[in-house]
Amino acid sequence: MATIELDHLTKVYPDGTRAVDGLHLEIADGELVVFVGPSGCGKTSALRMVAGLEDITEGEVRVGGKVVNDLPPKARDMAMIFQNYALYPHMNVYDNIAFGLKMRGFDRAEIRRRVDKAAGILGLEEVLAKRPRHLSGGQRQRVAMGRAIVREPQAFLMDEPLSNLDAKLRVQVRAEIARIQRDLGVTTIYVTHDQSEAVTLGDRVCVLRDGVLQQVDRPQVLYDRPANLFVAGFIGSPAMNLVQAEIVERGGTRAARFGPHELSVPEGVHLDAGRRVMLGIRPEDIRLAGGQAAAGSTLDVTVDIREDMGAEVFLHFSVDAPAVTAEALKEMAGEEAAEAAAYQHGHSAWIARVARGSEVREGNRALLAVDTRLLHFFDPARSGGARVAGERLESGSAAPNQIRRQALSSVDALDGALPVAALLELVRGDVDGTALSDHRDLDLTGVLEVLLDLAGDLV
Ligand SMILES: Nc1ncnc2c1ncn2[C@@H]1O[C@H](COP(=O)(O)OP(=O)(O)OP(=O)(O)O)[C@@H](O)[C@H]1O
Ligand SMILES: [Mg+2]
Repeated sequence: MATIELDHLTKVYPDGTRAVDGLHLEIADGELVVFVGPSGCGKTSALRMVAGLEDITEGEVRVGGKVVNDLPPKARDMAMIFQNYALYPHMNVYDNIAFGLKMRGFDRAEIRRRVDKAAGILGLEEVLAKRPRHLSGGQRQRVAMGRAIVREPQAFLMDEPLSNLDAKLRVQVRAEIARIQRDLGVTTIYVTHDQSEAVTLGDRVCVLRDGVLQQVDRPQVLYDRPANLFVAGFIGSPAMNLVQAEIVERGGTRAARFGPHELSVPEGVHLDAGRRVMLGIRPEDIRLAGGQAAAGSTLDVTVDIREDMGAEVFLHFSVDAPAVTAEALKEMAGEEAAEAAAYQHGHSAWIARVARGSEVREGNRALLAVDTRLLHFFDPARSGGARVAGERLESGSAAPNQIRRQALSSVDALDGALPVAALLELVRGDVDGTALSDHRDLDLTGVLEVLLDLAGDLV
């Protein structure tokens, strides 16, 4: 167990892609830190530099205070868990978990002790004699965890370990990972693109965008005080409602005006009249106004869509003012056409998250009450749309990062990063009888991840 320090870590690939840019972070002993951000933001690159699978272009990685930049992966004593966990199909669960220890020459008694202990932690005692194909997805994932646990490493490095599981299982295994990590107290870096996974798992969450750290803090802080527009839009589901607004003077106080609406600027936020801002409010901070309504804290809207979620109701409505057009948000909207449509000229699609049993129907007018103390303000003129009032944006502006990752399927991704001899042996299929052809169900990305994982066992 150890602290891990990333000291201005930078990765520039040979083709010029700046995948990680000055990442600076200290991870405490036993802490679980999550790296989260959209595809291509540099999460895997950062993790692989920590693991020693990728050269460090600039900066240092220190484990327990010692610089490990030039140490090979095996000397770093970290266990990596990938998305495709590459179990050996012809071995039973016990042998799968024991494999890495055998390769390292541990004696039988010690192997048994460690495998039994890991199986106990993971609830795998009953299935030790089974082959992987006779296990459920969640059990297979736990076997992969078992292989990491028995190594008793200084740190776990996990890269999207749950993405092969269905939604329900993902929630369950996620809780197990949290429990196991807490029980073992092993320093862990966990990579995911899923914000809900990040905030539920992480002691701290590190939001990355285009290789640049946007904010790192406890999940609650990211939620309550996002440092910029990107974090505001990325953390929370449904996402924060955002709109372009102008600050106006209203009898000695200030209000934010957008379209026909005005919301009071809360005390403690200093914004001059005439200033243009991005205004944000979370769907859960809007409710149905019961009867009388205070000026400056209501929205009179027409409900477009009513979504009954069981425990609550989502009311969709449109606000007659331009949505935030910041680059940060366009990037996210690009994912789904429905979302993209919401960013059309002149309108902003908003959501209010109200109590179940609310009677409002589609097409109805609704008077909504906004808790204006919880309004968020961002400065469109500052880099990345930094938060106004108090909070500072720690990092510099995001470096333009044009090259989007085309998935691991690019053979270039292997360039120089792997122990080639070990790979060649694996491809020939003569390591302990394991042939890649056993993994027929995998696509090229899967095969490459299998290779990476197997190589990790051999080094
Ligand atoms: N070997 C490589 N050569 C050149 N560019 C690379 C290489 N590997 C990754 N990249 C680029 O570096 C950037 C970061 O990639 P990385 O794999 O770290 O992203 P990620 O955050 O893990 O994404 P994902 O969520 O899709 O896994 C991307 O723009 C990607 O195209
Ligand atoms: Mg990745």
